[in-house]
Amino acid sequence: MKLWGGRFEKKENKIMEDFNSSIRFDKRLYKEDVKGSSAHVNMLSASGILNEVEKDDILKGLSSILGDIESGELVIDDSYEDIHTFIEANLIKRIGDTGKKLHTGRSRNDQVAVDLKMFARNAAGEVAALVESLQEVLKTKGEDNNYLMPGYTHLQRAQVVTFKFHMMAYYNMLQRDKKRLLNAIDILNESPLGCGALAGTTYDIQRELTAKELGFKKPVDNFMDGVSDRDFVLELLSAFSIIMMHLSRLSEELILWSSQEFKFVTMDDEFSTGSSIMPQKKNPDAAELVRGKTGRVYGALMSMLTTMKGIPLAYNKDMQEDKEQFFDALDTVSASLEIMCGVISTMKVNKDNMRKAVKAGFLNATEVADYLVNKGMPFRDAHKVSGQIVLHCEKKDCAIEDITLEEFKIYSSLFEEDIFEFIDYDNILKKGIKKEIL
Ligand code: ARG
Repeated sequence: MKLWGGRFEKKENKIMEDFNSSIRFDKRLYKEDVKGSSAHVNMLSASGILNEVEKDDILKGLSSILGDIESGELVIDDSYEDIHTFIEANLIKRIGDTGKKLHTGRSRNDQVAVDLKMFARNAAGEVAALVESLQEVLKTKGEDNNYLMPGYTHLQRAQVVTFKFHMMAYYNMLQRDKKRLLNAIDILNESPLGCGALAGTTYDIQRELTAKELGFKKPVDNFMDGVSDRDFVLELLSAFSIIMMHLSRLSEELILWSSQEFKFVTMDDEFSTGSSIMPQKKNPDAAELVRGKTGRVYGALMSMLTTMKGIPLAYNKDMQEDKEQFFDALDTVSASLEIMCGVISTMKVNKDNMRKAVKAGFLNATEVADYLVNKGMPFRDAHKVSGQIVLHCEKKDCAIEDITLEEFKIYSSLFEEDIFEFIDYDNILKKGIKKEIL
């Protein structure tokens, strides 16, 4: 069954039918579609367009369809054009001619827009909750393993930090991600239902009623914008892309840290995989997959930006492309957040290896310069002296704290016995604003 056809003389070509059909993927909107239709029917009745009996019949029919889909009794049939057609056709099958009144004062254009908005609103909330779970996992892992570790710039050992501080950097990135998602929900939360195809309807419908029942702040201001706006898809795809970028950076670090070269962390067997040929291998596939899937989510964003850029107002069929991209990106970001929670919560942090890396990295060279500045030397001169000491130690193959006071004094007479206390790694983080790192 089709929802159109009166003005056609020939049947739709089979290739065209398949090409046009979206039910394979928009079946995911069945719950929202029933919810949106129910609100529409309540409103039609409140506005005197449907009578009580008609309203009750349609509502009962819709709710039995929903129940049967959920229980598996009613299987969504891919031969229909889309989920809207499938549900309407089933309603008519179940309750007869009254079902044909459901679509009064409505178009599939406002119908699909409201369905997708409700779906996206809910999905964004679920992703925000997953983001929050990962934040908690990162925080706990950091607190349980608050060891010294090298901080890097240019992937060169730079200054001493703690593992917790490093984890909390990601916590803060995710905090912004969460805000972006919640902000996108806030912006999208205006109802397009009642916009009709593009120009409203001649019935005196009450858009505020459907907006309220469906949890929107208000109806959209402009019908044409209401049916042709997919900014909310773009905003969420953009928020998902940034989340994936953050997860990808974290993945990259985990991959490095779990290598034989770093050995800062050991990933749990539960979240690692092996090699078919090399028996000794334990690969960080979870992190690699998250890093890899980042491109896929960026792809969805690029695809939708490109789809939207050239289409005139109002609705165009190009926009049907929104759903596959959105669903795929949503599933990818959700799975990635979940897997990352597992990877982080189960991995072991190797305190001793991180400490060794701290010691071998001249990570207190900046503090040697700070020491001299405290004794009155201008920073630029102190920087030079500290650099000469690093060179001295590099030649001797030892750490700065391992040389004697006499050796320090070769480079400046300002050095005293207290230099050793000053450049001790544990003490460094107790000084100045570095205290925030602890
Ligand atoms: N399947 C369509 C979509 O996803 C539903 C809206 C169809 N509207 C129309 N005028 N053909 O966008």
